[in-house]
Formats: sequence, C-alpha cells, structure tokens
Amino acid sequence: MSFVLNELLFLLQHYGDIILAALISIGIAVLLSRSLRRVATSKSSIPGRLGLPFVGETFSFLSAASSTKGCYDFVMLRRLWHGRWFKTRIFGKLHVFIPSIEGAKTILANDFTLFNKGYVKSMADAVGKESVLCAPQESHKRIRRLLSEPFSMNSLSKFVQKFDKMVCERLKKLQENGKRFAVLDFTMKITFDAMCDMLMSITCASLLEQIEKDCKAVSDAMLSFPVMIPGTRYYKGIKARNRLMKIFEEIITQRRRVKDSPGDVLQSMLDRDLNKTEEKLSDSEIMDNLLTLIIAGQSTTSAAIMWSVKFLDENKEVQHRLREEQLSILRSKPDNALLTLEDLNNMSYGSKVVKETLRMSNVLLWFPRVALCDCTIEGFEIKKGWHVNIDATFIHYDPVLHKNPTQFNPSRFDEMQKPYSYIPFGSGSRTCLGMNMAKMIMLVFLHRLTSGYDWKVDDQDASLERKSHIPRLRSGCPVTLTTLQ
Ligand code: HEM
Repeated sequence: MSFVLNELLFLLQHYGDIILAALISIGIAVLLSRSLRRVATSKSSIPGRLGLPFVGETFSFLSAASSTKGCYDFVMLRRLWHGRWFKTRIFGKLHVFIPSIEGAKTILANDFTLFNKGYVKSMADAVGKESVLCAPQESHKRIRRLLSEPFSMNSLSKFVQKFDKMVCERLKKLQENGKRFAVLDFTMKITFDAMCDMLMSITCASLLEQIEKDCKAVSDAMLSFPVMIPGTRYYKGIKARNRLMKIFEEIITQRRRVKDSPGDVLQSMLDRDLNKTEEKLSDSEIMDNLLTLIIAGQSTTSAAIMWSVKFLDENKEVQHRLREEQLSILRSKPDNALLTLEDLNNMSYGSKVVKETLRMSNVLLWFPRVALCDCTIEGFEIKKGWHVNIDATFIHYDPVLHKNPTQFNPSRFDEMQKPYSYIPFGSGSRTCLGMNMAKMIMLVFLHRLTSGYDWKVDDQDASLERKSHIPRLRSGCPVTLTTLQ
C-alpha cells in the first residue's frame, strides 16, 4: 500500500504539471463536446417535454382547459420553460406550437399538400364527411367554390337590413325590461337565429329552439370518443345529427315543391339544380354544409361580439370615438331607416374596432394541422405525422409585430400589417368562409349598441369559462343598458 502511495507521490512531484494539463484538457474536451451537442440539437430539434408514452402532458393540458385561465395557459407556461418553439405530447400525439409568421406562411400556403387538418373520426361523423371541414382536397375545392358565392360582401348586403332589424328590436326589448343580461347569452341567440334566417329562412321560434339544441349536441360530439353507447356525448350528437338531417331534408323537398325563392343561402345552392354534377352540390353535401356553417359561425361570432363589449367598456376613449362615428352615420340617414352595405363601408373606425377585437380575443387560439411529410421550418425539424399548431394567439400578441400588444388600440390598423401577422380568419385555401358574415354581424351590432345605448359591465371578473375551446368570459359579460340621451 505504502509502495503505491510512494509511486503516486513520485509521479505528482515529477509529472504534476503534465497530469494537471491532461486533466484540464479532458475536462475542456468533455464540456466542448457537450455544448457542441447542445448546439447541434438546438439547431434542429425542438425543445419540450414529451413525458410518458401516450399520456405525455395530457393531464396538464386538461387541467388548464378545466381551469378559469383557459387552455392557452398550458401553452404560455411551456413558452416560459422552453422558449418560443416547443413540443409536447397530448392524447398520444406529438404537438409542436408554431410561433412565427414564417411558420404560419409555410403551413397555410401548403395546406393539403405538405400539411392537412388532423382527421378526427368523431368530427366527420358529427358534421358529415362532405362538410368543408372534413372533405378531401379535390371535393373540398369544389364544395368550397360552390358554397362561396352567397358569402361575398355584395351577396350579404341583402341580409344587412334583416339583421339590423333583429338587433334593433331585441336591444329595445332588453332596455325596456331594464334588466341586467349576459351579453354572451344575447349574442349566442341572436347570431343563431340570424344565421338560420340567412341560411334557410327559418324564423319559427319552436323550430329554431329545436335546431339550436341539436346543433349544440352535434358540436359537443365533434371531439368526443366515437362509440355508440347510449348516454355518451357521441351517441347524443349522432342522434341529434340524424334529427337535423331530417329537418333539412324536409326543408329542401318543400323548397323544390313550392318553387318558393326566398333568396337565402340554401336557395342559391338549389338554383344550381339543373347544372352538371360537377357544378352543383348534392343534397347530402348541402345538408352537411348547412350544419357546418351553423356550428362554425355561431359560437365564434357570438364570443367575438362579447369581447368587443368588454374591450370597449375598458377603453372609454375608443368607445367615445366609435360612438361619434356611428352617430354621424345615424344622423346622415332618415329617422328609423335601416343600415345598408354602404353604411357599413363608411364605418372605417368601426372596422378597425372589429379587427382589434379579433386580434386580442383570439376566438380560435391556434389552427391545428398534421405534417404529411418530414420538413424543416426555421431550421427546426418536423417529422411526418406530427401535429403542428399555428399559434395565432402568440403571433397576435408578439410585440415585434404589434406594438404594445396588450393595449386595445384600433388605430394600429391605420398602418398596413405584415403578411401573416394578423390571421384571425386563417389564410390560404382554408380561410374562414364566413368572415364577411361575421364582420357584417359585428358591425351592425356595434352600430346599434353605441349609437343607441350606453352600458355598464356589472361583473368585471376576467375568469374564463371552463372546458371551452373558445375563450369566453365565465360571467358571460353581464351588462345593464341605458338609452343615450
Ligand atoms: C368572428 C367570427 C369567426 C372567426 C374568428 C372565424 C375563424 C375561422 C378560422 C381561423 C378558420 C380557419 C381555421 C383553420 O385554418 O384551421 C375558419 C374556418 C371556417 N369558418 Fe370561420 N370564423 C368566424 C365566423 C364564421 C362564420 C359566421 C361562418 C359561417 C357562417 C364560418 C364558417 C367557417 C367555415 C365553413 C370554415 C372552414 C373553411 C374551410 O376549411 O375551407 N366562420 N374560421
């Protein structure tokens, strides 16, 4: 033993500096190789935690979605931990959240070719496989083309007065009752009734009630587990869908028999009856898409209107400026005249208020797609089959793209926005089909609200509704209206 110690002492005394140099070199080499490996990884692989196979971070996601902070809280936390780009595993699938306009452009400009909507069986079963939401590329292109015409601003002009009349009557009734009411309940009902009127001219209260109940069941079934067991959301949704298809079928048969022409969206579809197959929609295509339009339009538009009321309440200067513009439009018209498309075109500040509401409220938080092949975005490797979520919310709140992003400032739209920096309606071949309708509904509502009334938000609680994929105030935004003097 003492011999070994002596040997070591001898080596240290004579070769100490060489041994020290060797140890330092090995240390440096190890550190260098580690950091080089980190650089190589950070260049191509996306940071994030995948957790256990299949389960991943599903429970954290569900817990955020069930809280009053909403499911985007899950995304924000991971950004704090991992940075702008991150990956996670939810419900057994690997998800990447895409935070940039470059990423949004790459994905949205290559919809159907390099990326596609993730196919969810329950969704196609609920809204129908011929819905624009689920149809494969070729039929999507055709169905979308044949559906689009009645959604142009010009075609919508005939609905402006119809909707305006509806808003006037209902706001007046609410004010007369003098009661506090939740804006969200009001907007859910009025957008639903207005859409059924514009799509199919349905105005009968009991029929509207029945259709609304069934549409809600279908919407709830879209992301459920697809098993036909009585009592489940899926089962109830499929049953509701069957009832709706019967109602739509009867309306179509009746229309063809009576040759009535009410000038609604359904009529514009039926007007193609004599065209070649390629140039018309089959009855099942019409019915699947009527259902799709109602479901895609009601909760989005009503949530957006609710947020506009909240933002305007918190920003009195903006509210004042908007009211001035709307009053000047009102004063320029004969007493009790209804709005026209031209009036809407003159609401330049109103349009910016609508835009800013959509930027800040992010009714659709992110747009989900699946990569159809391996690819690289901004140096990050994406593998075939990964889910990529275009994070519109992050883009809309990016201070580099939108100065003081948390400030409600409609005048920011005085300046041109960078492409893909403002995408509340998506972009490319899947751009929102109802965006003109949504804008029209929002403008008419804001006109009547600000030119006729003042309001007080009775509950300032900012908590969000639990388990809702669309951010909405838990309170529904209760207000009390008073008539402007
Ligand atoms: C403020 C209200 C609305 C917002 C913020 C909104 C937002 C969006 C967005 C972001 C998309 C694209 C999603 C993606 O790329 O994954 C979309 C698609 C769609 N929207 Fe809207 N939407 C609104 C109102 C409406 C209305 C009123 C209708 C119909 C009457 C409608 C019908 C549709 C349809 C059918 C699609 C699917 C288009 C396709 O895949 O080709 N939306 N919407």
